[in-house]
Amino acid sequence: MFRTPVVNSIVVAAALGLAAASAQAQGTVKIGVLLPMTGQQQSTGVQIAAAIRLYMAQNGDTVAGKKIEVIFKDDGAVPDNSKRLAQELIVNDKVNLLVGFGVTPAALAVAPLSAEAKVPQIVMAAGTSIITERSPYIVRTSFTLPQSTVIMANWALKNGIKKVVSMVSDYAPGIDAEGSFKDTFTKGGGQIVESMRIPLANPDFAPFLQRIRDIGPDTAFIYFPGTQAGIFAKQFAERGLGQSGIKVIGPGDLTDDDELNGLGDQMLGMITAHQYSALHDSPMNKAYVAAFKQANNFRPNFISLGGYDGMHVIYEALKKTGGKTDGDALLAAMKGMRWESPRGTISIDPDTRDIVQNIYMRKVEKVNGELYNVEFQTFEAVKDPMKSAKK
Ligand code: PHB
Repeated sequence: MFRTPVVNSIVVAAALGLAAASAQAQGTVKIGVLLPMTGQQQSTGVQIAAAIRLYMAQNGDTVAGKKIEVIFKDDGAVPDNSKRLAQELIVNDKVNLLVGFGVTPAALAVAPLSAEAKVPQIVMAAGTSIITERSPYIVRTSFTLPQSTVIMANWALKNGIKKVVSMVSDYAPGIDAEGSFKDTFTKGGGQIVESMRIPLANPDFAPFLQRIRDIGPDTAFIYFPGTQAGIFAKQFAERGLGQSGIKVIGPGDLTDDDELNGLGDQMLGMITAHQYSALHDSPMNKAYVAAFKQANNFRPNFISLGGYDGMHVIYEALKKTGGKTDGDALLAAMKGMRWESPRGTISIDPDTRDIVQNIYMRKVEKVNGELYNVEFQTFEAVKDPMKSAKK
């Protein structure tokens, strides 16, 4: 049916209008979930899907008199798939909301559709600063990389770190992580001796690890998403860099609760900045971790919280609108929302629609025989620093 881009966009635009109108008439709220359930970013999809299911098991599948119907689609983290599936979900399934988005390119590919169809797009994983600026209907419940990396840079400056090699995944969130860390660190008098960017697909860390060894910085600043962080950590240890005295710091993707315990004692002592640890000490988090583990047999990680809190935003917004699914009404209800999450108190910035959350400094330690990120300092209500800097 869609032969040319022009025809494509006209047909979709017409269908989008109809879709919004007819879905609203029914007693169901349809949520389309786009996640990587296969491929390199699979762990992201698995964590978020598990958290969505847990939230619904705990809170029911009816809100404000409307039945919540969730339609899961696997986009494999390939943005062309995300876009095609989002079109199908809007036009054929007539979804009222689109949620998920395991990687930045997937979130960006769908943003124009959400803007055109006025369909709220809840970003539950992707972490590049600019995402929320690409559609007025985007709300983010995950994080931005700079939220953690700026705090990490300030900690490094205060703790005697002077000479750093930076190594990140060569795509948008990696560039954000590299840039925001570097800005803060060099302004404070620190030195970045080399910045390395590693291909996102099939990375081979070996030559870069050798280069780090040759340069001999006091510290390596590392960001990789999902499974890649674990692969990096394994290779770092196998090549004996752990014993070389070079410290490793970064956002908490590096010491992901999902993988941390399987990575072994080489991870002990690693310092990261992040918004969630499975060991976060609150009654709500203890209950969350216990229920999540019971349902899934694995630990929830920081990614899962984007899904759990994303469902909370949707449920509470529907309560406020009395079940109305109109995009503008839902967005108005979501802006400024503030609540207690297993990660601490969080809110949706009414100006940027981005998440505001605590960032914790953590150190990997053994607790009851398992490796965990143990929080030792809290920075409260951190906004995305990249957006704040633009103001
Ligand atoms: C992203 O693609 O924005 C992304 C994915 C996973 C992460 C962080 C960022 O852990």
